[in-house]
Order: sequence, then structure tokens, then C-alpha cells
Amino acid sequence: MSDETKLVYVCDGGDCTERGSGDIHETLKQHLLEIDPDEEKVRVRRYPCFGGCECGVNVTVAPDRVFYSQVTLADLPDIEKHLLGEGPKVERLTGKVDPEVEDMAFMMLDSPY
Ligand code: FES
Repeated sequence: MSDETKLVYVCDGGDCTERGSGDIHETLKQHLLEIDPDEEKVRVRRYPCFGGCECGVNVTVAPDRVFYSQVTLADLPDIEKHLLGEGPKVERLTGKVDPEVEDMAFMMLDSPY
């Protein structure tokens, strides 16, 4: 994994799962693996819960520190462009959770434990 590799976490918590995070994870992962089979550019993983449950489905992007909320399958083409460096951050999906929740999520993701 290079320093340029983006690490994407799709929430796996109860609320996000009820809103379809399983399909979002699978679809995003499969699309990106077709383009980037060795995960050189992007890795997609699950995360137990970010604490912004009412705004799910939540998806984070590191090292960009982007916190996407209310993500649906229809948003994936724009998110994929961002992840592959072909488009900007998808502003309409950001800024929905409390900034403290975002900070806490990225602090946990940065933690080596
Ligand atoms: S269930 Fe997704 S943020 Fe908690």
C-alpha cells in the first residue's frame, strides 16, 4: 500500500446496515476491484460504527478525512470518481454529522490499535 492509497470504510453498524450499507460496500468494492485489482489506489473495508448512525449510510475516506453521509447506491459513481482522483469530493454528502463525531471517527481510524 503506497502513501497515495485511499482507505475507505463503509459502516457496518445496525442503522447503516438497515439502510443498505451491505450493498453499498459490495458494489463499491467490486467496481473498484475491476479498475484497481491490486488495491493500489483504493482499499474498501467495513467499520463497526462511526457514531453518526442517524445520518447513515456513512462512508469515510482516509487520508482525505472525508466523511460521507446518507450515501445511496446512486451516489457511488461520483464517490468512485473522487476515490480514483477523477473528480472532486462529493460535497452534497458531507457536513451532515456533528464535527465532533467526524473528529472522533478519524481519531479512531488513525489509532494504531
Ligand atoms: S450504524 Fe453507521 S454510524 Fe452507527
